[in-house]
Amino acid sequence: MNGTYRAIWLSEDESLEVIDQRTLPHRYETMRLHNTEETVFAIKEMVVRGAGTIGCVAAFGIYLAAQESGGEWKRLEGFAAKIRESRPTAVNLMWAVDRMMNTLEDSKDLVKDARREAIAISDEESDRTGEIGRHGADLIEKIWEKSGRKSVNLLTHCNAGWLAVVNDGTALAPVYEAQKRGIEVHVWVDETRPRNQGASLTAWELKQAGVAHTIIADNAGGHLMQHGMVDLVITGADRVSRGGDAANKIGTYLKALAADANDVPFYIALPASTFDFTIIDGVQEIEIEERSEDEVHFMHGMLDDGSISRVRITPEGSQALNIGFDVTPHHLITGLITERGVCEASLEAVESMFKDLV
Ligand code: MRU
Repeated sequence: MNGTYRAIWLSEDESLEVIDQRTLPHRYETMRLHNTEETVFAIKEMVVRGAGTIGCVAAFGIYLAAQESGGEWKRLEGFAAKIRESRPTAVNLMWAVDRMMNTLEDSKDLVKDARREAIAISDEESDRTGEIGRHGADLIEKIWEKSGRKSVNLLTHCNAGWLAVVNDGTALAPVYEAQKRGIEVHVWVDETRPRNQGASLTAWELKQAGVAHTIIADNAGGHLMQHGMVDLVITGADRVSRGGDAANKIGTYLKALAADANDVPFYIALPASTFDFTIIDGVQEIEIEERSEDEVHFMHGMLDDGSISRVRITPEGSQALNIGFDVTPHHLITGLITERGVCEASLEAVESMFKDLV
C-alpha cells in the first residue's frame, strides 16, 4: 500500500463520511456528518484533525449547511460563522469557509454550487499534496545520493500525512514519493503528547504504507540529532505567516531549535491554503489554541481485554496547561516545501513565490 487515501468522502446519502481519528490505531471507524452541528462537533472534538482535512471538512460542512438552510442566505451565514469558529489556529478552516461563501454569494442554487465548490477544494488540495511530495522527495533524494545511497533518517512531529491533508499529506508526502522512487527512508516519529498524533496516527499510516519507522518519546529528538542520527526534519503546519513563521503542533519549535544547534536541515511542508498572508510576525500574531487540561491528565489506549479506555496519569487536583501549537520563527526554518517548489522562509521569498496571492 502507499499513501494515496482519503480521510473524508461524500457517502451515497450525501452526508460527509469521515474516518474517526480518535479511535485509531486500535479501531478503524467512520462517522457520517449530516449538518452544521455535527460538522462543528467533528472539528472541535478532533474526530477529524490536521489543517488540510479540517479545511476540506469545513468546505463540505458548508455544503451540508446549504442543505440545512433551505436556500436562505442569512441562515447559511449563521452556520458558516459557527463552522469558522470551531478551531482557531489552522487557517485552512477560515480559508475554506471564506472561499465557499465568496463563491456562493451570487448563487442561484446554493446546494448545487456548494457541492461543486467543496469537491473542487478537496480535489485541488489533493493535487497540491502530490506536488509537495515531489518537491520534498527531491530533497530526500539529494541526501540519499550524497550519502552513497544509505537509508535517509527523517524526523517528523505530530501527523501530517493523508489523515491530516487529503490526499498524500504534507510532511509525509515526500516520504511516500521517495518510497515510490525506491529511496530507502526511515522515519523517527515523535509521539506528540498530549494527544499522541504521532504515536497513534503517523505510525499507523507508515505501517500501512510499509515505511520503516520508529516511535520516539517527544524528548528524544535532540539526542538523536546530536549523534548524527537525523538527516532532516520535515513537519507540516497549521498556519504560516507571510514572513515565514510556522505554527504547528506544540513541540515543533523545540525540534527546530535542536535542529539548528546540530546543523540538521529543518523543513516545513505546506500548501498555499496554509499561508496567512495577512500576518507577518507569526510569533506575535498567530492565535494559539488552548485545549482542555484533561488531554494532559488522561491518556487513551487499549486495555489488555481489547477495550479502548482512558487512564489518569496525573495526581487528582494538580493543574495542567494544554497549549495546542507553537510558532517556529522563520530564521530556524531551512525552507518551506510548497506545491510551487521549495522557498526560503522569508518575507521576500514568500512574496515572490506567491505574488498572485499576497
Ligand atoms: O491538533 P491537530 O492534530 O489538528 O494538529 C495538527 C498538526 O499540528 C499538524 O502537524 C498540522 O496540521 C500539519 S498537517 C496539515
